[in-house]
Amino acid sequence: MSRKNQTLGEFIIENQSSFKYTSGELSRLINSIRLAAKVVNHEVNKAGLVDILGAFGDTNIQGEEQQKLDVYANEKFIQTLTNRNIVCGIASEEEDDFISINSQDENNNNKYVVLIDPLDGSSNIDVNVSVGTIFSVYRRVTPVGTPVQLEDFLQKGSQQVAAGYVVYGTSTMLVYTTGHGVNGFTLNPAIGTFYLSHPNMTFPEDGKIYSVNEGNYIHFPQGMKDYIKYCQMEEGDRPYTSRYIGSLVSDFHRNMIKGGIYLYPKSSKTSNGKLRLLYECNPMALIAEQAHGKASDGFTRILDIEPTELHQRVPFICGSKNMVEKAEEFMRLKK
Ligand code: AHG
Ligand code: MN
Ligand code: MN
Ligand code: MN
Repeated sequence: MSRKNQTLGEFIIENQSSFKYTSGELSRLINSIRLAAKVVNHEVNKAGLVDILGAFGDTNIQGEEQQKLDVYANEKFIQTLTNRNIVCGIASEEEDDFISINSQDENNNNKYVVLIDPLDGSSNIDVNVSVGTIFSVYRRVTPVGTPVQLEDFLQKGSQQVAAGYVVYGTSTMLVYTTGHGVNGFTLNPAIGTFYLSHPNMTFPEDGKIYSVNEGNYIHFPQGMKDYIKYCQMEEGDRPYTSRYIGSLVSDFHRNMIKGGIYLYPKSSKTSNGKLRLLYECNPMALIAEQAHGKASDGFTRILDIEPTELHQRVPFICGSKNMVEKAEEFMRLKK
């Protein structure tokens, strides 16, 4: 049941019974993410006023220069989830290894692990462009009450019990799914409450927007080059419009509302593309599928990929169903 203007808190409680496992634990978890999102939103909004812009002065496991807000958001999400004793493990784009929570405590009966991209699009912070947070939730596969293991995190995306993102945009939105469709909530900053503003979000089957970093075109596989040329060709409803923000969350959000496709292919410079399977592609793929869209690496459904490493990268093609299928067609023709 969803009603417009329902608060996120009310929505979580009223929809709790539709979760596959109804212990209330997942509800508490989403509630903690909601809280951390508000804290990070508050800080992101002050960027420029307080000393939170620019580089932190360290490099993360991905080989990227960390921004101050990357570090801040990472700390806030981990702190919020840890303090509430709500999960048994966390993995983050900004952490070298996964974190085991209360691994010494036999009474820790928490069943869920969370994987996060605490701040997505962090290269956009300094220029006041929308950034986001992405999260993914799994049920652990090792016995409850024991320390979490790598295998609890290396699960196929199809095993996710929930996934979502926050977009810190012109307004701040939290969009998530627990496998029963996708709902979007907008923050009223005056009172700090998220309201259901976008019930049952769905990708249009077709779209007219393609989003790709075309600066890398020369390095793309031939199939991808051909698909981009197809998007630019004057025929039928083409050429399509090109829109690329450089924040996956924002590009995805726009494409879901308007109809479009996001492309981050492999290239001769990056053999598996750039985006991280566990923190970025899997959660976005679950949301896409729940919203009647599609997500693939060009050949395989993202949610069917068996992860082998925590920070694994994969090529990512995601968006309106017919557009993704067309891109796959081009990829298959010329690998
Ligand atoms: P993050 O800021 O979490 O490291 O993610 C950045 C990702 C994604 O948000 C975006 O779509 C992509 O990197 C942009 O990459 P390019 O600058 O190579 O286009
Ligand atoms: Mn990063
Ligand atoms: Mn990211
Ligand atoms: Mn990030």
